[in-house]
Amino acid sequence: MKRILSGIQPSGTLHLGNYFGMMKPAIALQEVGECFYFIADYHALTSVHDATELRDNARDVALDFLACGLDPARSCFFRQSDVPEVTELAWILSTVTPMGMLERAHSYKDKVARGLEATHALFAYPVLMAADILLYDSDCVPVGKDQKQHLEMTRDIAQKFNDRYGETFKLPEPLIGDETGTVPGTDGQKMSKSYGNTLEIFGSEKALRKKVMALVTDSTPIESPKPMENSTVLALYRLVADDADFARMEAEFRGGGFGYGEFKQRLFEAIWEIFAPMRAKRAELEREPSYVEFVLRKSADRAKRVADGVLARVREAVGLR
Ligand code: ADP
Ligand code: TRP
Repeated sequence: MKRILSGIQPSGTLHLGNYFGMMKPAIALQEVGECFYFIADYHALTSVHDATELRDNARDVALDFLACGLDPARSCFFRQSDVPEVTELAWILSTVTPMGMLERAHSYKDKVARGLEATHALFAYPVLMAADILLYDSDCVPVGKDQKQHLEMTRDIAQKFNDRYGETFKLPEPLIGDETGTVPGTDGQKMSKSYGNTLEIFGSEKALRKKVMALVTDSTPIESPKPMENSTVLALYRLVADDADFARMEAEFRGGGFGYGEFKQRLFEAIWEIFAPMRAKRAELEREPSYVEFVLRKSADRAKRVADGVLARVREAVGLR
């Protein structure tokens, strides 16, 4: 069975874009292979500098994933820092990583341009990410388009290592999410926490209703047909409604006679309803912090067994011990 691995940065509250763009497809992959998903807390140290915030964020990601259907009996779901061997591999990989490769990384330049401190960790981020992937003999790595270059760097680093020390690493295949899956935010742009246009999945009913009712729409009069192209209401409704309800709303857009207020109300109800079971599950898990901790620890033990095997191969190859 193929091993599918991905890392999730523990940063911010889960929104509809994260859910439909990343979490739902990641959970669906449980049907296809052996999933290794980890909470990238070492990576988050490059941007989160408050211990409580980091710990809370990591716990939130764990709750979100488990509530949304990640099955710990099948998948290995762990905290990156519970397998610290990854930092040893990152060091060894850094000895075959050309400076020029890291200097060309877009994400480093983008993050510094956005105001993050230009630290060595931010610069070396792709090497730690390569270690994450190579430490577990991953076959396949599902990521968003923004991570494509990091995957190419991982393959280059693995190849450089193999060229110098002999065949040691498996070259992972990227599985890049498609752009058509971009979920629009309340203002019609890509939903993103950095644009302040998100719809939170596990927020309060009142907050969600308020945000949905404030979705930006055009000023077509009630009686007229509504433009369907680029309609944020329709795009979001497509994600949460069943086919019959969606077809009905489409027909009403085309026919006219309904105002946006009515459509938004239905959109709100559909969002609220589709996440109801996950909300209940999350509340239940929140009351069981020791269970969540147990799942993460047990998965970390399983991950560590794989990591130990790969690291032994690497140490042997380079001449450590
Ligand atoms: P944000 O843009 O809110 O900071 P992140 O960059 O942390 O979100 O994204 C986490 C994951 O969620 C990534 O895999 C990303 O591809 C996915 N994602 C985020 N926003 C969207 C969106 N609007 N549509 C589809 N996927 C998204
Ligand atoms: N860099 C990824 C992001 O920002 C998170 C990540 C860390 C990751 N290590 C990984 C993703 C390994 C896939 C594989 O989203």
